[in-house]
Amino acid sequence: MSSSVEQIKSKIDIVSLVGSYIKLEKAGANFKGRCPFHNEKTPSFFVSPDRGNYYCFGCQAKGDIFTFVQEFEGLDFLGALKVLADKAGVTLERFEKGEKTEKDRLHQVLEQTLFFFEKKLSENPPALEYLYKRGLTHDTVAHFRIGYAPSDWRQLYEFLLGKGVPADDMLRVGVIKRKDGTVDSFYDTFRGRIMFPINDSSGRVVGFSGRILVADDKSPKYLNSPETVLFNKSEILFGLDKAKTDIRLKDYSILVEGQMDLVMLHQVGITNTVASSGTALTAEHLIKLRRLSNRIVMAYDGDTAGFSASNRSAQLALSLGMDLKVAQMPIGKDPADLALENKGALIECLKQSKHIIDFYVDGLLLRGLDTRELGKEIFQHVLPYVALLPSTIEKSHFIKSIAQRTFIKEDALWEDLKRVGVPDTAVSPEVKHTEIHSRVGSIERRLFGILMWQKSSSPPTIDLVELEEKIKHILGDRFQKMSDDFEKEKDLLLFETESYYNGTLDFVRDVTELLSSLEEQYLKKQFADTMVLLQRAEQMRDSALVLRYLEECQNISQKINTLKHT
Ligand code: GTP
Ligand code: MN
Repeated sequence: MSSSVEQIKSKIDIVSLVGSYIKLEKAGANFKGRCPFHNEKTPSFFVSPDRGNYYCFGCQAKGDIFTFVQEFEGLDFLGALKVLADKAGVTLERFEKGEKTEKDRLHQVLEQTLFFFEKKLSENPPALEYLYKRGLTHDTVAHFRIGYAPSDWRQLYEFLLGKGVPADDMLRVGVIKRKDGTVDSFYDTFRGRIMFPINDSSGRVVGFSGRILVADDKSPKYLNSPETVLFNKSEILFGLDKAKTDIRLKDYSILVEGQMDLVMLHQVGITNTVASSGTALTAEHLIKLRRLSNRIVMAYDGDTAGFSASNRSAQLALSLGMDLKVAQMPIGKDPADLALENKGALIECLKQSKHIIDFYVDGLLLRGLDTRELGKEIFQHVLPYVALLPSTIEKSHFIKSIAQRTFIKEDALWEDLKRVGVPDTAVSPEVKHTEIHSRVGSIERRLFGILMWQKSSSPPTIDLVELEEKIKHILGDRFQKMSDDFEKEKDLLLFETESYYNGTLDFVRDVTELLSSLEEQYLKKQFADTMVLLQRAEQMRDSALVLRYLEECQNISQKINTLKHT
């Protein structure tokens, strides 16, 4: 196993790997981006291509390619190993059945189920016909692995049983149900439905969404898998596995409501699209999207236009500091219709998208309200969104533009804004990272940082032995303890130092300055301490002691003076 780990590590470059999940930009020798593991607006997540690791100054997340995939995808080590082995093209020969974790086993049940649905679709002309009639191509059906659940009670159950899957596992992934009041009588969850597999962001199937093929009055149009150990509805966005690369590239995501919308947009090449599957977006969904890009364009149906002022998804997105725009589809059309009929019109419609606040204001203006009514509506339905914007610059931008368009005075809007209740959003406050280091502490920190960083670079740019000796000379007995303490935060220190000097040689000059300020600070402290002793000796009228401390003080101040003049 460990040889596979080494092999994978040597084949996968951490910057491309992490860069396939979040947006990274170059920062000297490192790359930086917004941390995927906590909620932040300014990038404090650093990746070192040389050391093959990452570190977040905000939440202290750190590790290598394996921990990254583990934490990002919510996998255990073996799961991450498999994902990475796959990417690296390394075969993990020592994978035996016995080593399978429970999640792996359940994944396999879903994979077998998916295989069954795909096969059933190919055997069912009416279902295929339906999909083609809706405009899906053969390739799209294959690419999204769309399938069909036959209109029967137990076909899937029996198929899986034949493969040796215990009913308990089928229940746990939600593909069968237990008949009420029985112990061992089961039936298939999905029957007579077009099946869309729902994948996690790494592309593994975790659940299904089934659209009824022949509508009846009793059954819902769509039926989704229940929450399971693998399917966490508040985290999974339909299509994210196929959209993530393009969202990063284009630096925005398009959010549609329906499964069909998503599939169709991808089919026409608009592949930075994800679907909310008709439910409200959670903070987890948004944070996932924000890792890839801060910008979202919502493209919802023209008629539903579910943009009531209580749109919680929108509130969450704004409070997370995301740039949220709305593309309004023509009345009676959804994005899938438009993609099929007129791709150019769809693209135009996306281009015409407006910031959600402008979108609301425009909506109100169209209603031809009088000034009083308009003011009331703005206060109730627009200002709460403005209040959510984390930046004052943005707030002031929108207040200005609302004033210009409604002829309400800016001052009045600012007054009202103060009184507006900020909707309660479930986003935890940004993890605050306050580092309070005294001046001496920060000089020591920088010096030890340079020392460790230079030790880890080959070849070092400065004379390490000399630097270490100089630091030891100043710190005396304290050196060892301090060195041990900083060693514990080595990762952090390396990134701190490296990003501080950002690929420049400024540190060579800094070292001299840092050493002399450190020495000066130490001498000053020593001087102050000796002064205290001197005063005490005076109080005790111990003239011998007074003389000794006096001399010592003079010595120290002389040293400080020479230091200042060299
Ligand atoms: P088509 O009618 O085939 O075009 O599907 P659509 O994807 O356009 O569906 P629609 O716009 O009606 O609904 C949008 C999304 O809401 C769907 O893709 C589903 O994810 C979800 N949805 C719609 N109806 C139901 C339902 O009855 N139950 C559940 N759980 N979700 C639904
Ligand atoms: Mn539709």
